[in-house]
Amino acid sequence: MLDLLGNLQRTHSCGSLREEHVGQTVVLMGWVARKRDFGVFTFIDLRDREGITQIVVSEDFAPEAHTKAKQARSEYVIAVKGEVVARSPETVNQKIPTGKIEVLAKEILILNDSKPLPFELEKVGSQNLASEELRLKYRYLDLRRPQLQRNLMMRAQAIKKIREYMDSLGFIEIETPILLKSTPEGARDFIVPSRIYRGKFFALPQSPQILKQICMIAGFDKYYQIARCFRDEDLRADRQPEFTQLDVEMSFVNQEMVYSVIEGVFRSVFRLIDVELPEKFPRMTYNEAIERFGTDKPDLRFSMELKDLTESFKTAENIASSPFASALQNGGMVKAITVKGKADYSRKQLDELQEFVKRYGASGLTWIKFLEETQSPLAKFFSPEKLTEFAEKAEAEKGDIVLIVAGKKSVVLPALGALRIEIAKRENLIDKNTYKPVLITEFPMFEYNEESGQYEPAHHPFTSPMDEDLEFFRRAVEKDERELLGKVRAKAYDAVINGYECAGGSIRIHQREIQELNFKAIGLSPEVAKERFGFFLEALEYGAPPHGGFAAGIERICMILCGTENIRDVMAFPKTSSTQDLMMDSPGKVDESQLDELGIRIISD
Ligand code: AMO
Repeated sequence: MLDLLGNLQRTHSCGSLREEHVGQTVVLMGWVARKRDFGVFTFIDLRDREGITQIVVSEDFAPEAHTKAKQARSEYVIAVKGEVVARSPETVNQKIPTGKIEVLAKEILILNDSKPLPFELEKVGSQNLASEELRLKYRYLDLRRPQLQRNLMMRAQAIKKIREYMDSLGFIEIETPILLKSTPEGARDFIVPSRIYRGKFFALPQSPQILKQICMIAGFDKYYQIARCFRDEDLRADRQPEFTQLDVEMSFVNQEMVYSVIEGVFRSVFRLIDVELPEKFPRMTYNEAIERFGTDKPDLRFSMELKDLTESFKTAENIASSPFASALQNGGMVKAITVKGKADYSRKQLDELQEFVKRYGASGLTWIKFLEETQSPLAKFFSPEKLTEFAEKAEAEKGDIVLIVAGKKSVVLPALGALRIEIAKRENLIDKNTYKPVLITEFPMFEYNEESGQYEPAHHPFTSPMDEDLEFFRRAVEKDERELLGKVRAKAYDAVINGYECAGGSIRIHQREIQELNFKAIGLSPEVAKERFGFFLEALEYGAPPHGGFAAGIERICMILCGTENIRDVMAFPKTSSTQDLMMDSPGKVDESQLDELGIRIISD
């Protein structure tokens, strides 16, 4: 028989009792995390979202409560009324904040029972980690784990801090619709069929980009929104199809003014974990980032920068017969990273690294072990003096190993950039308690897509070219000198922290003529541009102020705040990596009648 809650009220949470409460009568409610029976005594660890309190139930002192305690099993929901007592010194538990006290139960109510759980909450995270699939199916149970509860509470705190900060600067929060028209951010849209307008569709926003720009045209000046975004794209450890942004737009600003808002908001949020980020984040151009770190999201918590050996190899005797000859003849490059004190890497370790870079398209990896006598597969082609020279060029010292990749720039840089991170993880080079933000600036305006033969916006098509490159951009589009497009830089920037792209933004185009040129540059005919964005082009003609902004990924920020590499750990109800909700079993089928109403027929493969 279950007990009724009646008028009983909680007096404290399970995380709040301390020595100063000794002697008080309290009422706690929560879940039985653990129970141990010792004859006349039963001990229960009672858990709620704030923590755990030990309950002692004595058969002599409270026989009825003791009978209830014996009935209770793991995850039963109970209420306990009792007295706070100090634990004897030898039973104090230093590991929990309530460890100096326990509650001596006078009365226990069993409010609900529970079936045995499909996995043990306490074992998650240990060797016996239940599969993530099972945990996602029973998400409400997994969410009972203190770690996930702490993460979601941290997320709520972060959003609160963000709102406080943005409000303090005079930004206004404006909600934009979810049923929208396509807002391109480089992913596929999720589309929603219209019942009233058969054959027509809404698209869920990939971001509120166009609408926030329209808010500027409407004169709102400083907008923000905690905005839900939807992108049908390949998922990764830090990507979900549905995620949340702090979305910001401001009028009459240049890049530096936007940077100071980015810096301010990140500084205020990171204080939640007692981290003081610098007042001004270092700036680094996109080109510098990829040359030095092989990526536009460099993790600056460790150095191990990429060193350019192209010239040294080009001018070396015997280069023609070396394995690098063809790469260099085809305009390629030779780059290296130096791993300190690792000249003792084994054949097996080097084979693994070789396989690693191949996954990034590199043809292979070679090395120089910088010892008294250099060792290298390149010794067949170059003298020991020459190998020493290469190693020194890569800033190696005796005892270090130089890892070298040659080939096309578009392969070498990402492969070595990824290898740099891989080695840092393997060798524990990353201090988990440091936080290194950087603003990456001067992104290219376009990226060339080899498959489609088109230039595509590197950020999105509303980003302004840099003033210095504007004439150049005009010429490229008006005179159809398309290859010049690859050289145009944009007023676009990203904020990167510890290797995560936490925010991205740009100064926008605010003149119709330039916006039209940009659509043309990316291959949109005037007809298509008008059909898709006519309303926006028109809006630009009615006094659009110069404006710009950014959006920050709430999940990415929370991942760093919570110290997790899995985006699902900071979301209440995430999707799997194959975009499913295992708890609700969605996406799911809909009734035939719903499809009929929408005029949709499913064609199976
Ligand atoms: P962008 O596409 O760079 O810019 O997105 C901004 C930030 O949102 C986060 N983010 C994601 N987080 C989780 N899952 C995803 N699939 C995902 N995609 C992006 C990242 C990223 O830096 N409208 C522009 C912003 C602007 O120009 O103002 C935009 O959405 O942290």
